[in-house]
Amino acid sequence: MKILFDRIDEPGLNTLEVYERRGGYQALRKALGMSPEEVLSELMDSGIRGRGGAGFQMGRKISFLPHGDMDKYLVCNADESEPGTFKDRELMQKSPHMLIEGILIASYAGEITRTYIYIRGEYDHQANILEAAIAEARDAGYIGEKILGSDHSVSLVLHRGAGAYICGEETGLLDSLEGKRGNPRLKPPFPAIEGLYHGPTLINNVETLATVPHIIRMGGKAYASLGTETSTGTKLVSVSGDVQRPGNYEIELGIPSREIIYGLAGGPFPGHEIKFWFPGGSSAPVLTKDDLDLPYDFDSMAKAGSMLGSGAIIVVDDSHTVLEVAMKVAKFYAHESCGKCVPCREGTNWTVKMLERIQAGEATPMDLDIMASVQEQIIGNCLCVLGDAMAMPIGSMVEKFRDELEAEIEAARERVEGAELHEVIPIGVADEHAGPFPVH
Ligand SMILES: Cc1cc2nc3c(=O)[nH]c(=O)nc-3n(C[C@H](O)[C@H](O)[C@H](O)COP(=O)(O)O)c2cc1C
Repeated sequence: MKILFDRIDEPGLNTLEVYERRGGYQALRKALGMSPEEVLSELMDSGIRGRGGAGFQMGRKISFLPHGDMDKYLVCNADESEPGTFKDRELMQKSPHMLIEGILIASYAGEITRTYIYIRGEYDHQANILEAAIAEARDAGYIGEKILGSDHSVSLVLHRGAGAYICGEETGLLDSLEGKRGNPRLKPPFPAIEGLYHGPTLINNVETLATVPHIIRMGGKAYASLGTETSTGTKLVSVSGDVQRPGNYEIELGIPSREIIYGLAGGPFPGHEIKFWFPGGSSAPVLTKDDLDLPYDFDSMAKAGSMLGSGAIIVVDDSHTVLEVAMKVAKFYAHESCGKCVPCREGTNWTVKMLERIQAGEATPMDLDIMASVQEQIIGNCLCVLGDAMAMPIGSMVEKFRDELEAEIEAARERVEGAELHEVIPIGVADEHAGPFPVH
């Protein structure tokens, strides 16, 4: 079942001409013929949950926006910084008008007049495509004063970020958009009440907003008939890592995870087995091969102790050690921590140090208990969930692969002790051709 990716590779789809020929902007026309409340009610009926990470219901978020005569903002989160996630890039590159149409409909539902797309700086190509599409939409009267003869006026500005993971976090993003250093804000107040320039702000992910025209076209209830009761519709999944056919796939929520990893992405390479997988980006607690038959939806992933997150499935096969992957994850978050709150700043850096101790043969199994305890102290204690985003996967690796990590500790210690025994001592400058010899 394809909705977002239906004929996504059609040549020229990024242009207004082809998009309109395919029925583009008809959903906007339909929405403008309804009242904002009716549009919101369709979004509520659709049950669509945010596709950027947290999985919060989009309709409910819009309903939190206050009514009245004030500047309200909509910000599309196109930062796409979660490792393993690359679905928004394909959507923006191939069908930018789908996103623009979704933003315009959502702005109408929330009675919002100022909208932004915050795109990560590295997506220069996609930003250029979006800029061209925004200009086309403006010229055609879809963006601007009293669009298509309605009472709804709306502006749309594309803003490029400068390459920081924290600017994908919604409040860090808002600070960055305001021209400040991208640091997360204390919540509450949540952005729906006090967001951009202190005004009520709706923030949604690219995929969430790009789905809106389809919900209006199909009707909210029809959309909700897809997927499961609490994870409605389809979802784009980015599959990467040790699979034969990595890429973006559109799936109906609730299909077995195995169907995605083996059926669509081709499974691991011959001679290898899956050791573990991240079901929702590198911040999701890892699942093992025993979890492959779980339905891929928000609640099943949560019940299994992980999360669907951004829908980025990263597969790790038996050619990698847990330590190697844990180190990559911890280093990423330590580097990206903004440093504003202590548990995240210290916790991510100490985790890297503890993993380095294992590699250096200086750790004992007790260090694993300390590492697990550090992760527990991070979770739920940070300003935003960047710290948790490291603590959750690292904690799950220590818990699920303790035996392997203990064996790594032992092996590294033996390696170092052996090397010390065989320490190479140069015998001095006088006899340079004799070379060093081992001292026992
Ligand atoms: C550290 C961090 C990074 C995030 N990065 C992104 C991102 O790149 N893109 C995104 O859509 N959401 C990201 N989020 C989630 C956003 O804060 C927010 O929940 C989301 O944009 C809301 O949109 P949605 O409801 O449509 O998912 C991130 C969250 C955190 C804590």
